Amino acid sequence: MKSNNISLPFYSNFLTDSELEWQMSRSEKYCLIEVLKTLSPDVSIEIGTYRGGSLQVLSKYSKNVCSIDISEEPQKFLKNKFDNVSFSIGNSYEIISKIILEIESKNRKVEFILIDGDHSKKGIIKDLESILSHKFKNPLTIIMHDSFNPQCRAGIKSIDYSKYTGIEHIELDYITGSFSPNKDYREMWGGFAMIKINTNQKTNYKVNASQDMLFKRAYVGSIHIIKDKLSFLKPIKKLIYSALSLKQKSDLYNNFNN
Ligand SMILES: C[S@@+](CC[C@H](N)C(=O)[O-])C[C@H]1O[C@@H](n2cnc3c(N)ncnc32)[C@H](O)[C@@H]1O
Repeated sequence: MKSNNISLPFYSNFLTDSELEWQMSRSEKYCLIEVLKTLSPDVSIEIGTYRGGSLQVLSKYSKNVCSIDISEEPQKFLKNKFDNVSFSIGNSYEIISKIILEIESKNRKVEFILIDGDHSKKGIIKDLESILSHKFKNPLTIIMHDSFNPQCRAGIKSIDYSKYTGIEHIELDYITGSFSPNKDYREMWGGFAMIKINTNQKTNYKVNASQDMLFKRAYVGSIHIIKDKLSFLKPIKKLIYSALSLKQKSDLYNNFNN
């Protein structure tokens, strides 16, 4: 039977828990496992946990993990699954700076951050600015999911990285994303962008986008070309959906029974 499911089948020695839905493609899963295995972080932070798919990898390879989610559902669903994970509920860009300071005050090192929360242009900018304005004393790897999504990519690209020190590498297409994945007709999702911070590095940043040509080709044939122009209608869409009791994608995150 034909399937355009970009995450299955997935064969790996990493034993996934089938109860923990993992919203990533095959290539992203392999990459996340390998990166974390290589880094063995002291402390990792995950922004955007949902049902814990990616969290299970962070938990296995890091000494401790802090999960941040705007919804209470991940904590309720996952609190008994991991003994090295703490859960913080709130808007990531409002609480992450305090969380990093708290971790460092205990002489622990934040060595890995996965950003997979608010994918809007404004959201990713706020997340990245909150993280990059912190002066890390140790090397840090940041992975941002959905760098192939036009809004998310535009946010990552628009930051003035020259303001921050220690940036060794920025790659928008560390892992390339997908076109029309699963049921998202002509949408562009997935992909990993990666930022490497090395505290001994002189700032000599250059935003690299090794698959920008592919991104631009895909964008021309995508639904985003229309959607992005109509984004000012989002509040109205919200009103119509709630008046008609229709479910939006984000409702899934606020109530796992949806
Ligand atoms: C795409 S899901 C995360 C998927 C998960 N990382 C995985 O790979 O299976 C996005 C999550 O981000 C959370 N989220 C959205 N906006 C957020 C924000 N501003 N701060 C923190 N979490 C947010 C949602 O509640 C949702 O659980």
